Amino acid sequence: MTQRGKFITVEGTEGVGKTTNLEFIRNWLQQHKVDFISTREPGGTPMAEQLRELLLQPRQEPVDQTAELLMVFAARAQHLNQVIKPALEQGTWVLCDRFTDATYAYQGGGRQMDTALIASLESLVQGELRPDAVILLDVPVEVGLARARDRGDLDRFEQEDVAFFERVRGAYRNRAQGNAHYHLVDASQSLEQVQTDLGAILKQLKEHWGS
Ligand code: TMP
Repeated sequence: MTQRGKFITVEGTEGVGKTTNLEFIRNWLQQHKVDFISTREPGGTPMAEQLRELLLQPRQEPVDQTAELLMVFAARAQHLNQVIKPALEQGTWVLCDRFTDATYAYQGGGRQMDTALIASLESLVQGELRPDAVILLDVPVEVGLARARDRGDLDRFEQEDVAFFERVRGAYRNRAQGNAHYHLVDASQSLEQVQTDLGAILKQLKEHWGS
């Protein structure tokens, strides 16, 4: 019987260096002969990518929080059933740029929505499925926002204020605390050090999972 693949997610607030570090992780997995796919949320299927556009596009119309939450989970249901679960069942690892921890952080922390409500949607959409490992890239909010704002046009989330991102970061850090499947990386260090830390985490996970 094929061993189920492992599900690794990468999380963090804006400007933590997710893109660069995901590239590093992909290279590491390739070099270590891991069979994997790389995907993202919101998104990962054509329909879920359309929902992503709807979610990120700045707009005049105020966005209802419940509508936002349901769109995030609608995209996730599609992505999970079309892409993530079939890959895991075939023994392929899945590397995902954000997943439900982002919902607890942005909708729970940032928007201050009820986390019990998020948990009930999580059960509805995912059943028992949770990431095997969550890599949380952490930087002080000001540092991250300055980097994100240097990139130019801001999406609907990036336009939020510092207090919003402080709550997002706090929610991420709370979830990571004392929880063995979270790996918090201080992403304010030099890129070289961040990637040394990431390499050590990946090595440890691979050994632990015996693959
Ligand atoms: P990013 O992938 O470029 O970071 O953009 C995705 C944005 O969507 C980011 O600002 C966080 C937000 N988001 C949520 O608010 N909730 C979620 O569940 C997910 C996956 C992302």
